Amino acid sequence: MKNSIKNLNVALTYNLKKNEAINNFDDEAELDDIETVTSIKNALEKYGCNVILLEATGEIIKKIQDEKIDIVFNFAEGLKGRGREAQIPALFNMLGIPFTGSDETTLGVGLDKALSKRVVASEGIKTPKFQLFFNGKEKIKRNLNFPLIVKPNAQGSSKGIIDKSIAKSQEELYDLVNRIINNYKEPVLAEEYIEGREFTVGLLGNEEEIEVLPIMEIRFDKSKDTGFYSYNVKKDSETKTSFTCPANLTKKEEKNIKNFALKIYKILECKDVARIDLRISNKDNNPYFIEINPLPGLIDGFSDLTLIWKSMGNNYEDLIKRILNEALKRNNMDTI
Ligand SMILES: Nc1ncnc2c1ncn2[C@@H]1O[C@H](COP(=O)(O)OP(=O)(O)OP(=O)(O)O)[C@@H](O)[C@H]1O
Ligand SMILES: [Mg+2]
Repeated sequence: MKNSIKNLNVALTYNLKKNEAINNFDDEAELDDIETVTSIKNALEKYGCNVILLEATGEIIKKIQDEKIDIVFNFAEGLKGRGREAQIPALFNMLGIPFTGSDETTLGVGLDKALSKRVVASEGIKTPKFQLFFNGKEKIKRNLNFPLIVKPNAQGSSKGIIDKSIAKSQEELYDLVNRIINNYKEPVLAEEYIEGREFTVGLLGNEEEIEVLPIMEIRFDKSKDTGFYSYNVKKDSETKTSFTCPANLTKKEEKNIKNFALKIYKILECKDVARIDLRISNKDNNPYFIEINPLPGLIDGFSDLTLIWKSMGNNYEDLIKRILNEALKRNNMDTI
């Protein structure tokens, strides 16, 4: 029996930018503007939901005591640490309140690039060889081939990835590693730079009904930009590198990439939605897993998932509805 609820009470969890970047210019890059929260809220209201806005700070525990919540639309980045995206799902799981998207285990692993690479690699998924640096004094692994891309191990939105993040020598590698350790106070991932086409794949759904959306290719103009998605390239919508969706691929290539993404979604036990970044190596033509975003950005007309969705002829509100409906179905509740 399904639980039938009229005027569903949906709590929308989020973390807002405070305009207080403390250590680095990109400190708040993963946090959201009120406009994005408002557009999700408007979409939910359009479909008749009562929306309760819950900023995911330490106060949230007090705030939810007075609320009747049927389901949470989770969009919160969380506060601190590599497990920050797991904080809100863990809280609502503890309280027995359903929420959209993956649970705390998937979000925790997904935000830690090295951990997620280890998990998918253990199931046969190709991912660039890498090394983690904790203090910048480690010896470089012998099997690692330059050039390497050097990035904080647990950030998104290309935080800490600058135009000069490619190390071609040991000296450049240690320079970049130490710069990131000093600025971001977290382990650094150095991984082999995959020269080749870059794609991002959105997925929606659960179990036997997972939809792999049209593949988006990120196209770099080597005369103008770095050839990869650095913070500078990503943040500015005007200079934003162009993309093609659906990507120009043969049927066989398309099938191969979609299967690759689907396998990763299943290995990491994603729920409802995720976006997976990968590159096809020019050397061997194989897809290489770069990272997963089980809590993908939802800035209307800017975030890759919203662009993919719109390229299918859909509107933004329907993407929000679809994500909520996936969670409702999964929890055996009536959809909106
Ligand atoms: N091993 C690699 N080889 C080639 N390019 C890479 C590699 N790793 C990262 N990049 C480039 O750097 C970009 C950002 O890297 P990554 O996706 O890991 O960062 P992110 O900040 O987590 O991204 P997001 O905003 O999608 O969360 C990629 O989109 C890609 O262009
Ligand atoms: Mg990425």
